[in-house]
Amino acid sequence: MKRPGLLALLGLLLGVGAAVALFGRAPATGQPVVLNGTAVPPVPTLVPEQVARGATLYAQSCARCHGANLEGQPNWKVRLPDGTLPAPPHDDTGHTWHHSDTVLRDIITRGGQAVYGSADSPSAMPAFSGTLSDADTTAILDFLKSRWGTEQREYQWWMTATGK
Ligand code: HEC
Repeated sequence: MKRPGLLALLGLLLGVGAAVALFGRAPATGQPVVLNGTAVPPVPTLVPEQVARGATLYAQSCARCHGANLEGQPNWKVRLPDGTLPAPPHDDTGHTWHHSDTVLRDIITRGGQAVYGSADSPSAMPAFSGTLSDADTTAILDFLKSRWGTEQREYQWWMTATGK
C-alpha cells in the first residue's frame, strides 16, 4: 500500500520539475545561471543586515543624485549644457546591473571621469575612495542588488562571475 503513494509523490515531483524547466524561470538562488551557454554558480544570497547597512550608506552618499528611490535624475540620457550626463537610475530601468562588481567598484572608488570620462564626454560621478571603505561599497552594492529583478540580478552575477 505504500508503493502507490511513493510513486505518486515521485510523479508529482517530476511533473513539477518538468513544469519549472519548461515554463518557469529558475529561482534567483540555488540554480546555476546560464547565459550564452556559459553556466556560473547560483546567485549568492544577500544578507539582510548588510543590505540594511547599504541602504543607510546609500541614503547618506548617493541618494541626493541617484534618487532616494534609486530613480535617478530626470532626462538622465540627455546631456546637460556642461556636457555631463545627469545621474542615471540604479533600479532595473538603469544600466548599473549591466556592469560587473569589479567595474562598479572601480567607478564608485575612482569616479566616472577617471574610469570612462573624456574631454568630449566628461563625467560628473564623484570618486568615493576617501569617503567609503571597501566594506561600505560592498554594502551599497548589496543594497542595489536587493532592488533588482531576478533577470537583472542573474545577468549582473553572470558578468561578475565570468570576470567581466
Ligand atoms: C554629485 C552627484 C552624484 C553622487 C553624490 C553620486 N553619483 Fe553616481 N553618478 C552621478 C552621475 C552624474 C553619473 C553619470 C555619469 C556619467 O555616466 O557620465 C553617475 C554614475 C554612476 C555610476 C555609473 C553608471 C551606472 O549606473 O552604472 C555608478 C555605478 C554610480 N554612479 C554609483 C554611485 C554610488 C554608489 C554613489 C554613492 C556612493 C553615487 N553614485 C553618488 C552623480 C552622482
